[in-house]
Amino acid sequence: MLTRLIYASEAAEDLDPVKVQTLLDHARRSNRLRDITGMLVFDSRHFLQVLEGDRQLLSDLYGRFVHDSRHRRLLILGVEPIAQRLFSDWSMGFAAADESRRALYLRHSASGRFEPHGLSAAGALAVLQDFAGEASPDGS
Ligand SMILES: Cc1cc2nc3c(=O)[nH]c(=O)nc-3n(C[C@H](O)[C@H](O)[C@H](O)COP(=O)(O)O)c2cc1C
Repeated sequence: MLTRLIYASEAAEDLDPVKVQTLLDHARRSNRLRDITGMLVFDSRHFLQVLEGDRQLLSDLYGRFVHDSRHRRLLILGVEPIAQRLFSDWSMGFAAADESRRALYLRHSASGRFEPHGLSAAGALAVLQDFAGEASPDGS
């Protein structure tokens, strides 16, 4: 069953751009093999990620997140069956939630900060779709 899963988490360690690139390279290779698509937004502390694909494969992947020491404060924001993908262009798109994109998350947060743990499922999806507009195919 085609499913969309959205979650938030925090980086448990400092992730510099090289480490983020290594993470993305691995995620993209692995997601291509499993026909998983999605988008990751990171502000150097918080992650917001959407994953689309087979329900069992997404559940297995989330299980691996639980054991990944780079994550803490994992929080599922939404899981739903979907008729079609919204992020089919990306095995894992990436956009940095940095100062240059402040206007974008001001649209979604009264504080003007990137705080994915406080988002509803619909709010998180709207943020991810806005960020997807900033990412080139597969973030390259
Ligand atoms: C923020 C973040 C996002 C990740 N996204 C993915 C992903 O989309 N796909 C994936 O396979 N692994 C992803 N990972 C890595 C998994 O947590 C885990 O390390 C990996 O699936 C283990 O793969 P392996 O069993 O092939 O070593 C992500 C890790 C982090 C910290």
